[in-house]
Amino acid sequence: MEKLTPKKIVRELDKYIIGQSSAKRSVAIALRNRWRRQQVDEPLREEISPNNIILIGSTGVGKTEISRRLATLVNAPFVKVEASKFTEVGYVGRDVESMIRDLIEVSVKQVRSESEAKVIGKALRNANERILEILFPTGEKESISEEAINRQDRTRKKMKDRLENGDFESRIIKIKAKSKSMPMLQVMGPLGMDDMSSNIQDMLSSVMPSKKKTQRMKVSEAREIFSEEEAEKLIDMDDVIRVAIDRVEQSGFIFLDEIDKIAGQGGGSSPDVSREGVQRDILPIVEGSTVSTKYGQVKTDHILFIAAGAFHVSKPSDLIPELQGRFPIRVELDNLSQSDFVKILTKPKNALLKQYEALLQAEGVTLEFNKDAINEIAKIATELNDTMENIGARRLHTVLTSLLDDILFDLPDKKITEISINKKMVQEKLSNLSEDEDLRRYIL
Ligand SMILES: Nc1ncnc2c1ncn2[C@@H]1O[C@H](COP(=O)(O)OP(=O)(O)OP(=O)(O)O)[C@@H](O)[C@H]1O
Ligand SMILES: [Mg+2]
Repeated sequence: MEKLTPKKIVRELDKYIIGQSSAKRSVAIALRNRWRRQQVDEPLREEISPNNIILIGSTGVGKTEISRRLATLVNAPFVKVEASKFTEVGYVGRDVESMIRDLIEVSVKQVRSESEAKVIGKALRNANERILEILFPTGEKESISEEAINRQDRTRKKMKDRLENGDFESRIIKIKAKSKSMPMLQVMGPLGMDDMSSNIQDMLSSVMPSKKKTQRMKVSEAREIFSEEEAEKLIDMDDVIRVAIDRVEQSGFIFLDEIDKIAGQGGGSSPDVSREGVQRDILPIVEGSTVSTKYGQVKTDHILFIAAGAFHVSKPSDLIPELQGRFPIRVELDNLSQSDFVKILTKPKNALLKQYEALLQAEGVTLEFNKDAINEIAKIATELNDTMENIGARRLHTVLTSLLDDILFDLPDKKITEISINKKMVQEKLSNLSEDEDLRRYIL
């Protein structure tokens, strides 16, 4: 995180997301501020609250994509949740506190695998010792002569070298291990208390004797099981949980997608009432409260929230005022232009055209789009967005699937090794579609 400067974050996002520089900027600043805050001494540190953000932009302009990329970038606990999934406490469905429970779960996993990485060397050595013991059990030492013991030690040393050398990898051995196929035990807790039921589940599975069964398997497989068991012994789970909770409290962040779906449109009809209820439930979490999870109490005061929504029907001002106040930074994402589309098709690391090229490569076919063809695709997508619903970059998906439909179907039966798409081909394949209004509606 120390090296993740705002500029660097933006640069990384640039690899996947075209345009939207103001959104990238504010997200980068907010993330960096987490780190900056941690350099501040108490008691001031406690006072600095995160700059929660609302990203506003029509559908398909990159809101969710930004969050997805952020997640891979920062080594902080992160979850993405859909605001529309939540229901008011007391109703059937997920209550809002579950996002904190999910976040702590992510954090525990993260810290755990970091600790695992630290002990894996030792765990592997221990696992190898156990395998060696199965392959060449140490005999009774008392009854044999010293010379025999020495000889035994020498053989063992040799065998150990060979084992480490990988000579016995596919040898079948018998080991005692926890049987993996524990019958899943489902506990239904009272509605809306999914944490409680998972607690009960945990409790039961620790009470239930974990049956160890003798199994036959290859040395290589046994090593995996043993090293996992050994790693478990070497890791102090209490420590992991302590670090995990601290990380959530200090640097966790939550992407609250589809927040516009819970913004009521005034009125008093029942769905609006419950939407407002969800907002009221979210409020304390954003504002800072303590949520109890199965790992312990988690304070949410410094968790960063990045919310996003299209706000087609509702507006940010339709959110309850208290919640609005907790998201001081509003960023509007731009609608995407034709030249943005050209870049989206070609530039990102995972660009659509690159994806299709790779797919056809699997059939041994080189797919190529010339520049005019790409421009034409972008132009048609823009026109379609203008005349029909504006679905942003998602339009490129539908245009491309129609364009490549025949090619994707005919391969590999058609014996060719190269396909080069030019402007004329794009027009021929798509123009009759884009002229016929009815057909267009269905296909593109
Ligand atoms: N600015 C962009 N740069 C690159 N690709 C983009 C961009 N905007 C959208 N895309 C592409 O379009 C797809 C949809 O975008 P995304 O999921 O981010 O939409 P959204 O803004 O979250 O829309 P919604 O409001 O419907 O959730 C992404 O998977 C991505 O491939
Ligand atoms: Mg989205």
